[in-house]
Amino acid sequence: MKIITIIGARPQIIKASAISRAIKNFYSDKIEEIIVHTGQHYDENMSEIFFRELEIPRPKYQLSVGSGKHGAQTAKMIEKIEDVLEIEKPNAIIVYGDTNSTLAGAIAASKIHIPIIHIEAGLRSFDKAMPEEINRILCDHCSTLLFSPTIHGYNNLLKEGFSSEITNKPTADKPNIYHCGDIMYDNTTYFSQKIENSECNYKNFILCTIHRNTNTDDKERLKNIFDAILELSKQKEIILPLHPRTKKMLPQMLSEEYVNKIYNTSSIKIIEPVSFLEMIKLESNADLILTDSGGVQKEAFFLKKPCVILRSTTEWKEIVEVGNAAICDANYSLIIEQTNKFLNNPPQSYPPIFGDGQAAKFICEQIIKL
Ligand code: UD1
Ligand code: UDP
Repeated sequence: MKIITIIGARPQIIKASAISRAIKNFYSDKIEEIIVHTGQHYDENMSEIFFRELEIPRPKYQLSVGSGKHGAQTAKMIEKIEDVLEIEKPNAIIVYGDTNSTLAGAIAASKIHIPIIHIEAGLRSFDKAMPEEINRILCDHCSTLLFSPTIHGYNNLLKEGFSSEITNKPTADKPNIYHCGDIMYDNTTYFSQKIENSECNYKNFILCTIHRNTNTDDKERLKNIFDAILELSKQKEIILPLHPRTKKMLPQMLSEEYVNKIYNTSSIKIIEPVSFLEMIKLESNADLILTDSGGVQKEAFFLKKPCVILRSTTEWKEIVEVGNAAICDANYSLIIEQTNKFLNNPPQSYPPIFGDGQAAKFICEQIIKL
């Protein structure tokens, strides 16, 4: 069968490698995968680097949509994806996660009745002010196969009226939903082996990432977070691979003097976004991870590192429930207090919440049954 995979933003490119690898290793006689890159992320270190490093097949279509306002960006993607679907006539389309590329793929496919396979379905923050929350709800509700990485995600789908019954002929009106584990656990486990013997340049540090629009586009929240980073940098080095959105917004949101102070603090190392292998090396060697990223929260857990979440909610509430991550929002005191708590008393156990590292294989098997 012919499958079109839609990718566009950094985390989707990384996620796609798990399914592409499973297809290549086990199902190349049954599934033909065509990759379509919307161009939502386009910097070398936000896109191209992952194709080289993670052995992902090259996109057959590069839509080069680029950045823009949400409506305009999504609309351009829908138009161009529709053209590709009409040319390729795939049996199904795979979309990942919750970005504008996900929504665009889902809308384009649903209008011309191509079954949608949503990987990372069911996750909810219960905060509809987040663009991602809207994207994933809409995408889930027009999909035919929904794969949830966690039991909470699966239960969210049941609460929204999806049936747990699995049928032989799922449709958008009668979809199949599965709790299958997390393809990013597959990826982190697989790629961790490749960095086993490589040295990390940093020691005794906190790894930090910030890119969520609620943080980057709000002066007060961004300042609170950087105040906390400046304070924590007095006791530990902070390594901060800077997302292009944050790089752009810092001088717009904060005073020149304050931004200079951040860049000139020697124990804060602001670096360019890194490759995935470099990232999991940093995550594996950090003492703690401070982040507003969805993916990085989970990788902290996979790699047994405590995580301070710079958001007011999380879709990955299991990691908070077991006590290995804490929601600290953009609250200066909470961030400092919780970071010190974790550093002084690191969590000891990381239960197996995200499956067995074989989620991609399970997903491919269900796709073939379509
Ligand atoms: C997007 C996703 C978000 C995901 C994140 C992963 C949506 C609504 N948001 O957010 O869910 O967590 O990707 O990283 O889809 N930029 C560059 N170079 C690039 C890409 C972006 O300079 O290669 C800059 C541009 O100024 C752009 C800004 O970053 O306007 C934001 O990019 P965009 O893709 O719109 O949203 P993200 O914040 O990256
Ligand atoms: N990541 C990376 N390099 C970086 C920062 C992040 O490879 O410099 C990876 C990270 O390991 C994770 C994914 O990007 O797999 C997360 O993407 P991001 O934080 O951009 O988005 P989110 O997961 O919040 O949607």
